[in-house]
Amino acid sequence: MFQREERRRSHAGERLPVGIKNLLSAFGDLRTADGRTRVAHQTRETVWRAADEAIRALSAGYGIADVRALLRGDPPIEKPTLREQVLSRAFWTHFRPRTYAQSATKFSHTLALGFFSVFFAFVQIITGTLMMFFYEPSPERAYQSTSKIIGQVPFGQLIFDAHYISANLLVLVVGLHLARVYLTGAFKSPRRLTWVIGILLLILTLGSAFTGSVLPMEQSAIWLPPDLLRVYLLHTGILPGLGLILVAAHYFRVSRLHGISLPAGEEESPDEIVRARARERVNYLPDLWARELLWIAIALFVLVALATFAIHAPRASPADLSHTPSPAAIPWFLLWLRGMLKDPIVLPMLLWLRDVVGIDLAQFYDSRAWQGVILPVLFALLLLGAPYLDAGWDKFWGRSSSRLGRNRKLGIALGVFALLWVVVFTYIGTPNFPASSPPAVAISQEFLPDDCAPAPLPLLPADCGEVRRIGYAGLPVGTYDLGQFAAPSAERFPNLLSKIQVRIRQAAAAGLADGRGFLIVEDWQTNLKKTTLRITWTPRAPGEPDAFEKTIYLHKDSAYE
Ligand code: HEM
Repeated sequence: MFQREERRRSHAGERLPVGIKNLLSAFGDLRTADGRTRVAHQTRETVWRAADEAIRALSAGYGIADVRALLRGDPPIEKPTLREQVLSRAFWTHFRPRTYAQSATKFSHTLALGFFSVFFAFVQIITGTLMMFFYEPSPERAYQSTSKIIGQVPFGQLIFDAHYISANLLVLVVGLHLARVYLTGAFKSPRRLTWVIGILLLILTLGSAFTGSVLPMEQSAIWLPPDLLRVYLLHTGILPGLGLILVAAHYFRVSRLHGISLPAGEEESPDEIVRARARERVNYLPDLWARELLWIAIALFVLVALATFAIHAPRASPADLSHTPSPAAIPWFLLWLRGMLKDPIVLPMLLWLRDVVGIDLAQFYDSRAWQGVILPVLFALLLLGAPYLDAGWDKFWGRSSSRLGRNRKLGIALGVFALLWVVVFTYIGTPNFPASSPPAVAISQEFLPDDCAPAPLPLLPADCGEVRRIGYAGLPVGTYDLGQFAAPSAERFPNLLSKIQVRIRQAAAAGLADGRGFLIVEDWQTNLKKTTLRITWTPRAPGEPDAFEKTIYLHKDSAYE
C-alpha cells in the first residue's frame, strides 16, 4: 500500500513539464545566497539565449554579436548554417522579396521615400497608441488630457512631439514619393493600380494629419465639439485601419507582382549589356537588410534629437467654447485650398472676361463650393486617372509607352505645372498674402483680418489689423456712420474710421459705387466686444450682392500691439 502510494507520487513528479520542475528547484535554490547567485546567472543566460535565438530567427542566422558587427561595418563573426538561412529567409520572405534587381535598389532612384513612408507610418502607430492610454476624447477633457500627456506622463512630451514631427514628415515624404514616382514614369503599366492605391493612401495620410491636428481641442478647433468623438474614431480607428489594408495591398503589388521599377534610362537602354546589368539580382539578406537597419537607426536618432532639442508641437490656448470664435486655422498642407479661395489669378481673369468680353464664366467659378470642394475633388480624380489618361494619350498618337523623360515632355510639363500650382497657391493661402477678391472683402480683411499676418522679419510683432491694435479699451460702443468721419483726426478711433472711409471712397471705381460704411461696436458678453464692419454699395447689375459684413470679437485681456 505504502509502496504504491510512493510510486504514484513519483510518477506525478515525472509527469510535470521540465520548465515547471526547473522553476520549483529554482525556488528551492533561492533559500541560500549561493543559490540566488546561481539562479540570477541562469536567468541572465536564458534571457540572452532567447534574445539571440529570436534575432537569429529574424536575420538569416546572424546572432546579436553578428548584428552588432554588421552595423559597425565589420564582417559577421559566425557564418550561419544553411538550415538557419533557409528557415529565417522563410520568415522574411513572407513579406520581403529574397532578391532585388540591383539598379532598382539604388538610393538615387527611389530616394527610399516609400521606405520612409512606411517608417513614419509605424512611428505614428506606436506613438499614437501610447497616447491613447491618456487622451480623453470629450470636449471638456481633451485639452486637459493633452496637457497631462505633455506635462505629467513620463516621456509624454517626447512622444507627443515625435508624433507631431513624424506626422508632418509623413505628409512631406508621401508627397515627395508621389512626385518621384510620377517623374520617373513608374506609374505606368504594370504599376497603374499601385499608383491608384497610392493616391488613396495620400488622401488617408492627409485625412489622418488633419483629424489629428484638431484633437487637442485648441482654439482653432472651436467648430469641433459635437463631432469630437467621431473625429477621434476616424483618426485612431478607421483611417489607420484602412491605411494598413491599403499599405498591404500597395506593398504586395510592389514586392510580389511587379517589383520596383528599374531606372528608365537603364530599362530602355539600347545597349543589351546595360539592360542585363540592371537586372542583376542582389540578396535582401543581409546586404539590403543591414542598410535598412542603418536607415532606421539614423531616422530614429534624428527624430528623437529633433523632438528633444529643436521642435516642440505648437500649443495654442484651449478652445473657448462660449465666445471668441476665430476662423479655423488650417494645417500647412491644406493651405493651397485656402489659397484657391483667395484666388488672385484665375478669378480676376474671369471677371475681366465677363466685364470686357461679356462671357460670364465667373458665375460658375466664384463660389466656395466650386473652389473649396469641386476643384479639389477634380484634382484628386485627375491624379487617380493619371496613368489611364497617360496610356490613352499614347494610344491616341499610336506611340508605344516610354518612361524616358525625353519621350514624356508633355507629361513632365503637366506634372511640374501641378507642382507649381500647389506651391503658388500654398503661398497665396498663407496669411502673408492679402486676399484680393471683391473690394469690400479686401477692405474688411485689411482692417479686421481673419488671421494675424506674421511679420516679415522674425521678432517683429505680427500684424493683426488696426481694429485689433486699437483693442478692447479703445473701441467705444456705438454705431458709427463712416461718412461722417471723412477728415483725419488726431484721436485714434475717429482716425481709424476716417481711414476706412477713405478706402471705401477710393474703391468706388473698382465696384463700390455709392459705397457706405458702418462700424458697429457692441458689448457682447462680459469683457468681450463684438465689432462689425458693414459696407453697402449699388451693384452694377441687378441680383449682384450689395452689402458685405465682417465681424471680429475682442477680449478685454487680448493684446495685439
Ligand atoms: C502611406 C503612403 C505610402 C506608402 C507607405 C508607400 C510605400 C511604398 C514603397 C515601400 C514602395 C517601394 C519602392 C519605393 O520606395 O519607392 C512604393 C512604391 C510605389 N509607390 Fe508608394 N507608398 C505610399 C504612397 C504612394 C503614393 C501617394 C503614390 C502615388 C500615387 C504611390 C505610388 C507608388 C508606385 C507607383 C510605386 C512603384 C514604384 C516603382 O516601381 O518605382 N505610393 N510605395
